[in-house]
Amino acid sequence: MRTRPIKIGHIETENNVFLAPLAGYTNYPFRKQCLKYGAGLTFPEMMNARGFLYNPVGTKALLFTGEEEKIKAVQLFGKDPELMRRVAESETLSYVDLIDINMGCPMPKIVKNGEGSALLAKPELAEQIVSACKKSGKLVSVKFRIGLDREHLVTEEFAKRMEGAGADMLTIHGRTRDQVYAGDVDFDEIAKAKRAVKIPVIANGGVTDEAGAQKLLDETGADGVMVARGALWDPQIFADLTGRKRGSKKAMILEQLDDTAKLFSPHFTTVFMRKMVTFYIRGMRDCVRYKERLFAAANREEIENLVEEIFSAQEI
Ligand SMILES: Cc1cc2nc3c(=O)[nH]c(=O)nc-3n(C[C@H](O)[C@H](O)[C@H](O)COP(=O)(O)O)c2cc1C
Repeated sequence: MRTRPIKIGHIETENNVFLAPLAGYTNYPFRKQCLKYGAGLTFPEMMNARGFLYNPVGTKALLFTGEEEKIKAVQLFGKDPELMRRVAESETLSYVDLIDINMGCPMPKIVKNGEGSALLAKPELAEQIVSACKKSGKLVSVKFRIGLDREHLVTEEFAKRMEGAGADMLTIHGRTRDQVYAGDVDFDEIAKAKRAVKIPVIANGGVTDEAGAQKLLDETGADGVMVARGALWDPQIFADLTGRKRGSKKAMILEQLDDTAKLFSPHFTTVFMRKMVTFYIRGMRDCVRYKERLFAAANREEIENLVEEIFSAQEI
């Protein structure tokens, strides 16, 4: 894929292949692997702005970042412009360069609250949120969907309004809210929005390999692509997308396990890494049988031993 840097306000990314925010997954140890294999920008999982304001300490592990992460981004969801401005300006987020605002989440508990993709139906409020967050002096981006359903596509109009309110970048997930995470990605909708604004537009949805990423770029004319589930199965997808060399999968898993154990509790590490390893071994010999054993692993050591066993069995 032909990659290139992207200018977001006053900062420049190394390339235009980004890791999406994924609730429950894009913690620092996972992002570190994606960065190592070439991701140009990564996002931690979305954070509830209200929850953050009242308990910033509770989000400490979530906010952890390392020197690999040259551009520090966070994603907030919420619906109260003033409250979100206070979060953006908070001491805890003083290290952050870029605040992304979630206007795409389709989950009922978020939408019912008027947050996430509910904002697609409230463009004035969405504008107020962007301009309030801009007062922090940080870069502000918006991640949104093409509409609530096919009868209510908003992409171009919404993109223009977000740019008008001061957004420095847009990420467009080319699906409607009622598609949730399945079905075709609408390239044309993203393309229309891209043509309508001057700020960088990142296209998102359905990328699982280099050909898919190139197609998404070509058909939308977007400035970059954002990968979500494709990276969850395989963080080394970024090597394919940016022309780097892949590395040892086993070493990657063991490093992620070690980093996760350093940052999180033994319980979280076990539960989280059991899940991640089952993603990573998809398609490998006997993966279904190993999956069962992984889910029975009681601690980090048992996961480590199983990883050793899985990879030595592949070599036979
Ligand atoms: C498990 C899961 C968690 C997600 N969490 C977030 C999130 O925190 N913030 C967000 O903007 N999008 C979130 N998304 C949406 C993804 O960032 C992305 O827009 C979507 O999965 C489409 O990209 P893909 O087809 O490459 O997976 C999530 C998606 C999944 C499957």
